[in-house]
Amino acid sequence: MNYTTVYKILHNDLKSIENRLEKVLETESPLLKQSSLHYLQAGGKRIRPILVILSGKFGNYDIEKIMDVAVALELIHMASLIHDDVIDDAYTRRGRPTVKAKWDDKVAVHTGDFILAKSLDIITNIREHEVHKILSKTMVELSIGEIEQIQDKYNFEQRFTTYFRRIKRKTALLIAASCQLGALAAGAESAVHQKLFRFGYYIGMAFQITDDILDFTASAKKLGKPVGEDLLQGNITLPVLLAMENPEIKREIVQVQETTEPEVLERIIQLIKETGSINRSIDVTHLYLKKALHILDELPDHEVKPLLHTIVKFIGDRKF
Ligand code: IPE
Ligand code: IPE
Ligand code: MG
Ligand code: MG
Repeated sequence: MNYTTVYKILHNDLKSIENRLEKVLETESPLLKQSSLHYLQAGGKRIRPILVILSGKFGNYDIEKIMDVAVALELIHMASLIHDDVIDDAYTRRGRPTVKAKWDDKVAVHTGDFILAKSLDIITNIREHEVHKILSKTMVELSIGEIEQIQDKYNFEQRFTTYFRRIKRKTALLIAASCQLGALAAGAESAVHQKLFRFGYYIGMAFQITDDILDFTASAKKLGKPVGEDLLQGNITLPVLLAMENPEIKREIVQVQETTEPEVLERIIQLIKETGSINRSIDVTHLYLKKALHILDELPDHEVKPLLHTIVKFIGDRKF
């Protein structure tokens, strides 16, 4: 089984979620409508809604019960991408111009806010108080993660723990919340949704580390966004931290700044690759995925487990 198979198996429910997402973004402002539908229509992996559905199966599954959670989470994710692309000055996402590129930074900021507000509107349909608590906490952490990333830019002395804490906040917690809230909204018992939170946290960490690796190894076409940007922008990720354990390589890396010429950057990226730090980073993702599989084993037997297994495998060898 692969990711596409999971997608096909869940097709009906995903389609309902998709329709709902489109409907939610309807507004009387033609500009906001266009700008907010822009990423939605560009596709995306929809991994968060998929995790909501799969986790929801551990409760009394009913698409209506988990719909609001799935829609709200994808909206929060999309808003964070629109804002992230302003912060990262990114011009391509999901193979298309970003909102900031197609319109401008100001439109992007308001579009992100609009989508967040729409997610709030959806969340008011959810009765469980705990869902609200978890979601708002996750959004606060996400904002802190993004701010920390700005503060840690070009800080070549940062520790590994600084990096891990940052990616936990900016990525892993939203994925953890997707798993936990799917189960919670479907009425799964607390021990189960807490386990799913841990499962989501581990795959979420692996997911962001893979994203950071792909910035060095992937092709722009496959990824739908340019590669090699992280280091140039001073975003110090795991492959860089590991490569800097070699003092000679570190001396080269710390030279990088915004104005570094492409040929110089290319040479430094080559040096980083030669240290083997990419493979060591991949090993770290495997450690996280192993922990996720361990949690999966502890969850009650359910026909959905092979699908979650497939998601773990997908994250382990994701190329886009
Ligand atoms: C991109 O998320 C941002 C990260 C957290 C790495 P996704 O890789 O889930 O983006 P889409 O939704 O598939 O475009
Ligand atoms: C992930 O950050 C985006 C958020 C968590 C908001 P990145 O900046 O690393 O992700 P990409 O590379 O733009 O997708
Ligand atoms: Mg970013
Ligand atoms: Mg970015």
